[in-house]
Amino acid sequence: MLYHKTRPLINLLRGWPHPSLLPASSLKDAASRVLSNPEVSTPGLLYGPDWGYEGLQQALAEWLSNFYKTQKLIEPKRITITGGASQSLACILQVFTDPVFTRNVWLVSPTYMLVFRIFDDSGFTGKLRPVPEDEEGIDIEFLKRGLEKSEREAARDGNNEPKFKKPRAWSKIYRHIIYAVPTFSNPSSKTMSLTRREELVRLAREYDALIITDDVYDFLQWPSSPMSKISSLERAVLPRVVDVDRFLDGGSERKGSDGFGNAVSNGSFSKICGPGLRTGWVEGTEKLAWGVSQTGSTRSGGAPSQLTSTYVSDLLKSGELQSHIFKTLQPTYALRYRKMIDAIEMHLIPLGAELAQSGRDIVGGYFIWLSLPPPVKGDVVAQRAKEEENLVVTQGELFQVPDQSEVTFPHDIRLCFSWEDEEKLAEGIERLARVISRLQRQSDQQDADGKMMQHKTGEEAQSGRSKKDTAGKFW
Ligand SMILES: Cc1ncc(COP(=O)(O)O)c(C=O)c1O
Repeated sequence: MLYHKTRPLINLLRGWPHPSLLPASSLKDAASRVLSNPEVSTPGLLYGPDWGYEGLQQALAEWLSNFYKTQKLIEPKRITITGGASQSLACILQVFTDPVFTRNVWLVSPTYMLVFRIFDDSGFTGKLRPVPEDEEGIDIEFLKRGLEKSEREAARDGNNEPKFKKPRAWSKIYRHIIYAVPTFSNPSSKTMSLTRREELVRLAREYDALIITDDVYDFLQWPSSPMSKISSLERAVLPRVVDVDRFLDGGSERKGSDGFGNAVSNGSFSKICGPGLRTGWVEGTEKLAWGVSQTGSTRSGGAPSQLTSTYVSDLLKSGELQSHIFKTLQPTYALRYRKMIDAIEMHLIPLGAELAQSGRDIVGGYFIWLSLPPPVKGDVVAQRAKEEENLVVTQGELFQVPDQSEVTFPHDIRLCFSWEDEEKLAEGIERLARVISRLQRQSDQQDADGKMMQHKTGEEAQSGRSKKDTAGKFW
């Protein structure tokens, strides 16, 4: 049954901000102020310092100290300006890893799929390892077992020193990389508990690992209850992993440590201002932030996004960006989220679908992760939704670490509530429910047919073929 010719497309795949939420007018005013003041426009239009536009470093230090309620103020030197979280990840890997000495990259799974190629580019093909999540976040015991095994193999192979990277004053080469999106994760939507964050930092210290977190959704948060009168929250609910590392058990610069720390936070203006700005920041120890600023491509020309840094710095200093986040983005995304959740509860939960971390008080980000009732499979739903309902959703398998079968997501899908027009979100879920119901009816029918055949001929018993095998063809 093909409906797509008569129905407008509904896209619940794309993880972009809705165009109506881009602060074009504020940016136009900021750009005008910047470009009419030579004290800002001249450095903004020239090559900048390696660590980035200093006005933005300062504005970020103040804002982040306030938002994350850090135990001590963040010094601007802990921050280096980047071209956004993706570019920053590539730079961190260039400076702080060696494709041989760095044994493995451990990715909390399901994983933001566009990082796979960034790791491949840095020579980690075949070295990516998934780590599953439970209701509190990363499975620490699973990770610990993996790290131990990896270290035993490195000892066996005599992998004792970096093979491609020379010692450099501004860097160190870590033995392991751990990648996570601890708050309102893309794609799982989960938030890692404080206990897990602390356990993760302790484990990273024990195994000489650098935890790289994409903290790009932290600012987009709201109470989950539709009854709540509040739809914006001006302070983070949890410290970042980098904050935990900074203060836990003597901190990242404790006596006897090398001072680089074991965590780095990737921040970005993509989700809170506009991805086209290609501007973000890293925060870590001063030594680590300095190291990122010494990436070869940054040394030649200064930090990326120099001009756009002057615009966002202007918006942060005037408080306009904060106000855009708290007065526009949080309430709008809260509304979108609640519309989608209401529709899921009405149409999908009765079919047996399940939400991740459903009991949380505070939710956020762009995504909802949905586990489908087996035997319904995510890839079949994605394909049939497109063909039959002109609806685009993402199957969970896209977020699996490539070339492994240990941590897989055949019965899951990711839904995005940030991009599509608000009035289409509930309809998207209704279309999805129709697809799932049809698949369930077909499955029931196949079961019934199978039973009848079995009864008639006893064929299945003879051939040893199970009901599941038969259903497998269609699912
Ligand atoms: C977890 C995560 N990291 C990074 C990015 C990309 O960030 P940026 O635009 O700053 O490169 C995204 C965007 O979808 C994301 O979800």
